[in-house]
Amino acid sequence: MASFDDLERLREEGLTRVREAAGGEALRALEREYLEKGGVVTSLLAEIPKLEPTARRDAGIGANRLKGEIEGALAARREELLEAELAREAGGAFDATLPAAPSQRGSLHPITQVTREVEEIFTAMGYRVLDGPEVELDFYNFQALNIPADHPAREHQDTFWCDEEQNLVLRTQTSPVQIRAMETLEPPFRVIAPGRVFRNEACDATHEHTFHQVEGLVVGEDVNVGHLIGTLKGFLGEIFRRETDVRLRPGFFPFVEPGFEVDVRCPFCESGCRVCSDTTWIEYCGCGMVHPHVLRAGGIDPERWSGFAFGMGLDRLVMMRHRIDDIRHFMGGDLRFLTQF
Ligand code: PHE
Repeated sequence: MASFDDLERLREEGLTRVREAAGGEALRALEREYLEKGGVVTSLLAEIPKLEPTARRDAGIGANRLKGEIEGALAARREELLEAELAREAGGAFDATLPAAPSQRGSLHPITQVTREVEEIFTAMGYRVLDGPEVELDFYNFQALNIPADHPAREHQDTFWCDEEQNLVLRTQTSPVQIRAMETLEPPFRVIAPGRVFRNEACDATHEHTFHQVEGLVVGEDVNVGHLIGTLKGFLGEIFRRETDVRLRPGFFPFVEPGFEVDVRCPFCESGCRVCSDTTWIEYCGCGMVHPHVLRAGGIDPERWSGFAFGMGLDRLVMMRHRIDDIRHFMGGDLRFLTQF
């Protein structure tokens, strides 16, 4: 049993043993031996109340100092061992001039990438890029586009209503930006408006509740169908970087007259597949000549001005380009998908 007479010897011995401890386990053993219940220092401290009152003070000071010194030595040695360990891992001394470990860089979402490309192609043709609200008034999303209340076309675009009293919807198409453009710009003008749109649909490989479109609107004097077709063909040639087979079918949209649907050749197959429903054509874009009602709703005189409009799906464009067969990948947030772009 240690006694207060050999405090000095205990101190020397304890500190030396700690300084020479070879590793974490040895340190832990010393900690137990000196500082924990039943340990050398702890027992000394427990003895103090039993000493002569006159001796207690010095004994207390001595034992507590010893405790503090051993604790300090343990911490210092632990630190020293850790640093040695790190240096060993680094293959020698710490080198502050080494380049840092590379950090992982993110990448732009494929939809963002294609949106930027589309913007570049159209701005090169003299278009301005506009933005519009995703939460839109019924007036812009439907009424001004020649889709009055009770019009059956509303049912085709399964609408997410935000607030029926205030007539707020999540826009089901980018076409409302046509009206906003007409309200703010003086003709002649050319604009595109890319953005997110929403439909309350059952999701599957080709349908998603949130997807992306780019709207186009050109208003000028004597704008005709030839301009529309030339523009779309020119654009497709640029975006697919080759001559692309397209076909025009009559299509109905209340805000254009005449209206067309544009199909492009399925890039996945030669003779029919799941993606093109065995037709070798993929529906790609709706378009047409702006209906006089719509020009008027936007404050433009249809006697003087005419225009064409188109709306195309950006998700589908990316899918065709990268041969992606399920639209749900875009919003899925799976890094295994996203890091490929
Ligand atoms: N807004 C239509 C849609 O979402 C596409 C379209 C735009 C059609 C412009 C004609 C003119 O289906």
